[in-house]
Amino acid sequence: MIELKNLSKNFDKKVAVNNLSLKMEAGKITMLIGPSGCGKTTTLKMINRLIDSTEGDILIDDKSIYDLDAVTLRRSIGYVIQETGLFPHMNVFDNIAVVPRLLKWNERKIQDRVEELLELVTLDTSYIHKYPLQLSGGESQRVGLARALAADPNILLMDEPFGAIDPINRAKLHESFISIQEKLGKTIVFVTHDINEAIKLGDKLAILHNGELIQHDDVTNILYDPENEFVEQLLGHDRNIKALVLKKNRDYIVNEGFLKVRRSDKPENIQAAIENSNSNRAMAVSRKGCFEGIFVLELSKRTGRPRLTLIDDAITVEKNNNLQETLSLMIEAGEAQLPVVGPHMEFLGVINLKDIFNEFRGQDR
Ligand SMILES: Nc1ncnc2c1ncn2[C@@H]1O[C@H](COP(=O)(O)OP(=O)(O)OP(=O)(O)O)[C@@H](O)[C@H]1O
Ligand SMILES: [Mg+2]
Repeated sequence: MIELKNLSKNFDKKVAVNNLSLKMEAGKITMLIGPSGCGKTTTLKMINRLIDSTEGDILIDDKSIYDLDAVTLRRSIGYVIQETGLFPHMNVFDNIAVVPRLLKWNERKIQDRVEELLELVTLDTSYIHKYPLQLSGGESQRVGLARALAADPNILLMDEPFGAIDPINRAKLHESFISIQEKLGKTIVFVTHDINEAIKLGDKLAILHNGELIQHDDVTNILYDPENEFVEQLLGHDRNIKALVLKKNRDYIVNEGFLKVRRSDKPENIQAAIENSNSNRAMAVSRKGCFEGIFVLELSKRTGRPRLTLIDDAITVEKNNNLQETLSLMIEAGEAQLPVVGPHMEFLGVINLKDIFNEFRGQDR
């Protein structure tokens, strides 16, 4: 655990951090978020003693960092910074190997470790010989993360690590980051400007304003119960929609209230079943339980008579997607119900728009 105790930092007359007390749980991701200049970077740099505090203390596992040797402390904490992080004159291998070499590991062990880390951040070993200038923004950040993890520190400090990456690559980095953290369970302090990133990645949010802590809590609690207007504004008017990111499809799957047929059933039987139901559609599911499409009964524009069609490329969602993604797909597709499938197209049930709406109602407490 990292504990900030009445921590303050003044630069001459400027108060950058003001009496900040905060406990950051081991194995969790704490997101520091707030407007530019609110003291996020200063706080991060005090944790690894790149900056010394003016007042207060920082404890790591109950020991004051000021009782530790600053260099040893820094080597035991991984630090990822935005953009400029990599040494331009060193290739990827040497960049990742910086701390292990300082720790005097033997070359064999370093080689193995670099390869292991590249795999972890999903870069293949051909990257070893590349120089930072030959990497895309996303690749550089992956190397930066690998370098921070090189000596397997318990703590990782990350200062807007994905800030300069385009949205698509940023989403990919987020996925990798989440799965890396699931494996490693590091204690992470992550600075961001971006509330969506904070909600997606954080276990806890610590919201700062003018060097002071405004609110520190689970992401869900903050979304449902913002401390004050400042936090509300930071979360945005669509905070109810943002909260859907935290809900997984798997908890909203229902297995009733819809028709299920086989693709090979006789069309007239399918049509009759649909006509007898209060819907205009039926899920086609194979004998082995795989989703095969949706039969829809509509009036033909040309003849005015009912016509049965099978949509075999129907939009589906996966059980591990979140409700926000599902809601976007529903809006895009104009569907109030989407089938949920497993990794091999196993049919798991459906999600209904009305259940997502009920989520909103539940939030207006
Ligand atoms: N070395 C310094 N000398 C003087 N003032 C500084 C110094 N470093 C930071 N500050 C000031 O302290 C305040 C907090 O800076 P800090 O870099 O921690 O902000 P931040 O929250 O990380 O902002 P950003 O989101 O823009 O990165 C700012 O007002 C900044 O101008
Ligand atoms: Mg900063």
